[in-house]
Amino acid sequence: MKTFNKTMSANMIINLFCNFRCPYCYVDLKKREDKKLIGNPNIQPIINFFNKSNKTWKIYISGGEPFLHPRFLSLCKKLTKRHFIGVNSNLSSPLIYKFADTINPRKVNSFECSFHYYENKRLNLTKEFIKKVKYLESRGFKTNVHVVMWPPVLKEIDNIYNKFKKQNIPIRPEGFRGKYNKKEYPENYTDKEVKIMNFFLKQYQKNNKNPGSMIDNKKYQKELLGSSLCFKEIICRAGKDHIAIDYRGNVKRCHSEDMILGNIFDDNVKILEKPLPCKSKKCNCYYEGIEFAMDSPKISKIRKLSENHFNDGFSIDNIIKKECPKFSIYEQLDILSKSTSISKEEGKFIYRFLKEKNIKKTIEIGLGYGCSSAYIISATKSKHLVIDPFQKENFGNIGLQNIKKIGLDNFLKFIENKSHNALPNLLKQNLKFDFAFIDGDHKFDGIFIDFYYIDLMLNQKGFVLFHDYWMSSTKTVVSWIKNNKKNYKEIKNTPKNMFLFQKVGVDDREWNHYEKF
Ligand SMILES: C[S@@+](CC[C@H](N)C(=O)[O-])C[C@H]1O[C@@H](n2cnc3c(N)ncnc32)[C@H](O)[C@@H]1O
Ligand code: SF4
Ligand code: SF4
Repeated sequence: MKTFNKTMSANMIINLFCNFRCPYCYVDLKKREDKKLIGNPNIQPIINFFNKSNKTWKIYISGGEPFLHPRFLSLCKKLTKRHFIGVNSNLSSPLIYKFADTINPRKVNSFECSFHYYENKRLNLTKEFIKKVKYLESRGFKTNVHVVMWPPVLKEIDNIYNKFKKQNIPIRPEGFRGKYNKKEYPENYTDKEVKIMNFFLKQYQKNNKNPGSMIDNKKYQKELLGSSLCFKEIICRAGKDHIAIDYRGNVKRCHSEDMILGNIFDDNVKILEKPLPCKSKKCNCYYEGIEFAMDSPKISKIRKLSENHFNDGFSIDNIIKKECPKFSIYEQLDILSKSTSISKEEGKFIYRFLKEKNIKKTIEIGLGYGCSSAYIISATKSKHLVIDPFQKENFGNIGLQNIKKIGLDNFLKFIENKSHNALPNLLKQNLKFDFAFIDGDHKFDGIFIDFYYIDLMLNQKGFVLFHDYWMSSTKTVVSWIKNNKKNYKEIKNTPKNMFLFQKVGVDDREWNHYEKF
């Protein structure tokens, strides 16, 4: 098996031009108004850079306003073929709708929507902002709305909070970084201001629909709202496992450090081979600093505070392993995008269900990060058959690597092929199963074909479980089964994004049977 190279992350600023005039923005106003800085339309070198590394990247894209880049959608489309992206935007562009309609939400780790109170008011865009957040959500994107707590905006937070609450949108206060009235922030927030921000942060955490993203940990955020971080002289993996790219294509280890590793457009980038000490007085890339700076009591402390976050969202390095020795199945796996994987709760459900029913003969379509396979095999300790044509191409073999990492690879029989080819072959071999998990092709016809063959191989009293029940395609297949296959009964009390059937009889439909569904 090919060894999977650890994932890399990149923070990429693709332009500086912006249509907003936020008074607190850390991009210089002159640059924001300079049309020449709208972004380089020649995106091919960017795509080439990420693709040629043979690694899966998490690429966080920001600006200026990235949606004003002349080829932004095309860039996202091309990057998401092999990598995952995150996007940061003020949502003023009408292209948001096109993005939502054309980009695969499963390849977008987070969509950070910045609500700039004064600019939205000045340009009368607040309603449109809310409409776009809702639209992105309806298309399956994980949105997070934040508001920069520039002191004059902080005074309006009640008002902003209520406006969004009416629309059922949680808002996250983001600590302002910069100078206001000659004072440096976030260090100079008063105790009262920090209290107010923490109050609204709590509301956000209670109501946030997309927990698990980088910015969700309670204590972690609390630390960041009222303080700056310094990791000077501490060894940091930024530059080796993470890079920052500026609007000219210069690659640095992070946006706080000046050392240049090359330029994407000149095709001469040299990623660091080993971690180096941090040289910055202030780690402005605080999320990166906390993840990548290593071996200091200070970082251990912050990491400890934020261990829920690390357990949930990121790959687990040795330091964190040392700090948190008790990992469940989920925490041991590298899962790069939660939306492409089953959740921990869903995994636990599968595990308990299989144990309770003492099921051993299992099959699954769609390996992904191997999360469901890990739970299935852990429960059955038996051979588990998994079909997936895109494990290498789209997942860099992470799923296989995960199963190996937790010592279950002896039980896994992996078929690297499309299910419409593999399933008929298995049928010819007269194989039978007691449990099937369908989570492969998510198009209606793909799911239907998978079920068709699974049905032919499922033992009486066997179970078939569908993932992603939120999708219309899955709902339609389920509806067809409910209305047409009377030998299947629904098993209730599953997690809400799953649908479970049990085969409870023979299929005795007449030759011309058809019920509307
Ligand atoms: C410079 S903006 C570029 C992306 C896009 N125009 C937007 O506003 O989301 C990147 C992020 O920085 C945040 N930001 C801007 N100025 C800030 C400041 N002084 N302190 C903290 N965050 C700031 C914005 O809210 C945004 O999330
Ligand atoms: S929208 Fe973003 S880039 Fe534009 S001024 Fe505001 S913070 Fe800066
Ligand atoms: S600690 Fe922060 S500022 Fe220093 S190199 Fe790492 S990411 Fe950059």
